[in-house]
Amino acid sequence: MTRGLHKGLTSYGDKDFSLFLRKVFIKAMGYSDDALERPIVGITNTHSDYNPCHGNVPDLIESVKRGVMLAGALPMVFPTISMHESFAYPTSMFLRNLMAMDTEEMIRAQPMDSVVLIGGCDKTLPAQVMAAASVDLPAIVVPVGPMVVGHHKGEVLGACTDCRRLWGQHRAGTIDEAEIEQISGRLAPSVGTCMVMGTASTMACIVEALGLALPMSAASPATHADRRRVAEASGKRAAEMAVSGAPKPSALITPASVRNALIVLQAIGGSTNGIIHLTAMARRAGVAIDLDEFDRLGREIPVLLNLKPSGAHYMEHFHHAGGLPRLMRELAPFLDLDTPNVSGGTLGESIAAAEEVPGQDVIRSFAAPLKKQGAMAMLHGNLAPRGAVIKQSAASPALMRHTGRAVVFESVADMAARIDSDELDVTPDDVLVLRNTGPKGAPGMPEAGYLPIPLKLARQGVKDMVRISDARMSGTAFGTIVLHITPEAAVGGPLAIVRNGDRIALDVEARRIDVLIDEAEIADRLAAWKRLPPRALASRGYARMFEASVLQADQGCDFDFLLPADDKPEKE
Ligand code: FES
Repeated sequence: MTRGLHKGLTSYGDKDFSLFLRKVFIKAMGYSDDALERPIVGITNTHSDYNPCHGNVPDLIESVKRGVMLAGALPMVFPTISMHESFAYPTSMFLRNLMAMDTEEMIRAQPMDSVVLIGGCDKTLPAQVMAAASVDLPAIVVPVGPMVVGHHKGEVLGACTDCRRLWGQHRAGTIDEAEIEQISGRLAPSVGTCMVMGTASTMACIVEALGLALPMSAASPATHADRRRVAEASGKRAAEMAVSGAPKPSALITPASVRNALIVLQAIGGSTNGIIHLTAMARRAGVAIDLDEFDRLGREIPVLLNLKPSGAHYMEHFHHAGGLPRLMRELAPFLDLDTPNVSGGTLGESIAAAEEVPGQDVIRSFAAPLKKQGAMAMLHGNLAPRGAVIKQSAASPALMRHTGRAVVFESVADMAARIDSDELDVTPDDVLVLRNTGPKGAPGMPEAGYLPIPLKLARQGVKDMVRISDARMSGTAFGTIVLHITPEAAVGGPLAIVRNGDRIALDVEARRIDVLIDEAEIADRLAAWKRLPPRALASRGYARMFEASVLQADQGCDFDFLLPADDKPEKE
């Protein structure tokens, strides 16, 4: 079998010359023949000055390299795209598939026998796993790890559940300019990913649950020695995989491991983004996700993890309470314990080794769950023929069954222009509707689904309202918020025809989201609906490719041409 430097030779029409030339150039870096004959472990470098969440990547690379070399292989670090939530215009979701393509092609193009994927900020782990699943080269994931918590006036807080809560107080006038400025320096006190159960933490847990990362990889803080030790161990394991050629992602991402991950997603109070990313990652490996099954699991599996925004604690507390293996021990009766882990063991073995921490309140038992049902419920109805999602664990119980008058915003810009106006005709019982914010509509399905409470209501002390949209929401947010309405308005989904004053009914127990007008009226309005004119943004380049190829939320927002060849997606 072709290995190491001999793999994937550049085409010059003479194999031996291609290898000779490759050695000529790589020897410029001072490598010996001994080093160049070793199996090669590729290591992704997603460090960027624009990505503080990945600020510890250089340290982790050093640790991974140490592990690789201790096991006798050659580590080769290569750069890929990096992206941070707050430094990605128009939204990081717009770029996820670009990162997946970049990572996939760099793994294919360069000689390596296994690859270590170091990532963490929301879209990076999904992009890297999508890439690895498509290449199907032995791969191991090292999440960068969560930030440590911050402190302000004696309160423990962190990014970004508390960012939203405290900004809400600032908007309502209870926190002044000087204090909010001071708070801005305390919410993200270290490098690493957001330390609540936002999308980054959710994806780290999902990746570990799938068996793609070593046990205890998800929760150890970015700045702790444990994080670097797991990186070293991952490097060592990657070197073994470079020699054995196993396990490949296709052996790890299976219907059984994906079902385990869906159970974990419900039990951790995971981010709604998690279901989109898991759909995309699994589908690259040829595994389809059944969203109805995910909903059924949500009725059976309670939220057991007491972390913000559903609960009280932060990721470092989860780590100290035993991490994901300990949580999965609680879920063991529902899980397939024979699923393999990239470590070479099984999920059952990881769970058996989990630490028991006396007196901890972070990982709850089935007898005393944080929430009786799982994190998310999948909704259907005349507004969402192909589904929508609500994070019920972070919603207001009093609003889970609610009917109200629609207050419609045509776009993010329209919402931004009018939501704080004193002229806005809105009451606390109304339903805020935001549309044209889906995968094609915005484009990139921004995290705009967390519509702010209109200022005049916020000043009255209103904290939550029913809000619905075809957008996404940060996993760190709290509220009674229906997201991912599919099909989206921009492709003619029924959300496009809702008018101000229509009555909208949400019933989470019945899993329904409906506009209360009759079918004939809906059909008439849809017949009269006109697609918005194409935006200038989509006239060329990646944006044009995105708009032509992106799939809807229920299909993971992947590009149609990136799916396995035998997978025929539903097109709009
Ligand atoms: Fe990077 Fe939250 S902004 S994980």
